[in-house]
Amino acid sequence: MTKALYPGSFDPITNGHLAIIKRAQKLFDQLIVAVVHNPNKDMLFTLEERQALVNDAMQEVGLEGIEVVTYNGLLVEFARDMNVDAIVRGLRVNSDFDYEFQMALMNRDMAPEIESVFLMTSGRYVFLSSSIVKEVKGYGEKISHLVPKVVDEALSERLQSK
Ligand code: PNS
Repeated sequence: MTKALYPGSFDPITNGHLAIIKRAQKLFDQLIVAVVHNPNKDMLFTLEERQALVNDAMQEVGLEGIEVVTYNGLLVEFARDMNVDAIVRGLRVNSDFDYEFQMALMNRDMAPEIESVFLMTSGRYVFLSSSIVKEVKGYGEKISHLVPKVVDEALSERLQSK
């Protein structure tokens, strides 16, 4: 049985992340989505909120049987603890590649038994990121075609209260 981990900040989850989850679910017997507690990044949503939004977003689009967990610290240590065969990451434009390549090789150096697997994002999300969604929503622009409804509503509420 193959088991993979899909880690990220998910601040918040977008349709681009969901597209990767859908693809990864077809490749592995078991998929775990892991939301990182990243103290050195300024997050809009709390760890618990980000985890809940991942769960709610997957429910909204009918993705089932995928565990959502949180982790703190080094990704590969957590991956070892979860006994996964692979770490899945989504790739967009080439700007992702340098960062992902460095992280993948560093992770391989620390945990050679865990493979990094990269999935190309769907073309329509090649520009999409949590950061750009938050920025554009902050200016009152429509993003309902880029994020699940639950995320759009959470962003409306959070950005209004800021
Ligand atoms: O969604 P993101 O921010 O691109 O996800 C990056 C993430 C959270 C997967 C990565 O930064 C991470 O796991 N950080 C925890 C510390 C760590 O393992 N860093 C990588 C060292 S090579």
